[in-house]
Amino acid sequence: MTSKIAVIGFGNIAKAIITPLFDKKLLNPKDVYCLVNTKKSLENIRKNYKYEINIFQANAKGSEIIWDCNVKLLSVKPQQLKDIIELENNNNNDTNLLVSILAGVSLEKLIKRFPNHKCIRSVTNIPITIGKGLTGISWGDEITEDQKEFVKRLFENSSKIYEFPEDLLDIFLSVTSSGPAIVALIIEALSDGGLSGGLQKKLSEELVMEMILGTVSLIRETNLTTAELKNKVTSPGGTTISALRVLESRGLRSALIEAIVSASNRSKEFR
Ligand SMILES: NC(=O)c1ccc[n+]([C@@H]2O[C@H](COP(=O)([O-])OP(=O)(O)OC[C@H]3O[C@@H](n4cnc5c(N)ncnc54)[C@H](OP(=O)(O)O)[C@@H]3O)[C@@H](O)[C@H]2O)c1
Repeated sequence: MTSKIAVIGFGNIAKAIITPLFDKKLLNPKDVYCLVNTKKSLENIRKNYKYEINIFQANAKGSEIIWDCNVKLLSVKPQQLKDIIELENNNNNDTNLLVSILAGVSLEKLIKRFPNHKCIRSVTNIPITIGKGLTGISWGDEITEDQKEFVKRLFENSSKIYEFPEDLLDIFLSVTSSGPAIVALIIEALSDGGLSGGLQKKLSEELVMEMILGTVSLIRETNLTTAELKNKVTSPGGTTISALRVLESRGLRSALIEAIVSASNRSKEFR
């Protein structure tokens, strides 16, 4: 990756995207120009971040240089977007690329705020912080194949990439970004079930997580459908059908479907 990259908001998610590129020597820290808001963050990154990067506090002298970078990764919180003011630069607008990871901020809004840039909207999720993210990308207008390849390389060391028309990004976000909270809640509840039956809390949680990992691997490795797997472990008059009956009577399936739809609708409201 040769272009100079600006990172507007070098927080948790930006670090998760950029650090693996440094680790794999795909990007030189000297070619990356980062912006944070507070002096505290600036000093913290200077002191504790494992690479020496060019880092500036927003609006401080010299920070304008970030606008000269061809590629900008926009990674502030959505509510902080109002403070980011595009400055003029000498680049050709065709090469000025802005890649946003802001949940719920539409391409239309980005294009209005950054008229001298070609904008790309991406949505990623928290497992990106351990290199296991899922990133959905919606290309704005007139993005060249080379630019698409470049952006994919930006994310591919920390996540799997899926390309979508923008109207599917809300439901992608709902499934992948709200999903971890839903799964965490399910793990917690199942563990409490084990606890109720007499297992130690920690052991119960460990068993639930191993069971989930094993089930996912089984589905993947055997190509069983979820319905086939369910039928395989459900014997007439047995324990599993007894458990499933309780879940059906309490509407678990419908609650999960509605939860995903609700998160997606909420995301549309933010646009
Ligand atoms: N957290 C998640 O689970 C998650 C998952 C997927 C996607 N996202 C998206 O990722 C984005 C970033 O989230 P995050 O969790 O990485 O947030 P974060 O850790 O709070 O990082 C935000 C960064 O933006 C900087 N910043 C704030 N205002 C600024 C300004 N005016 N100019 C320049 N920099 C500024 C902050 O600097 P200071 O530290 O100095 O304030 C900080 O470095 C969000 O838009 C979110 O929608 C988050």
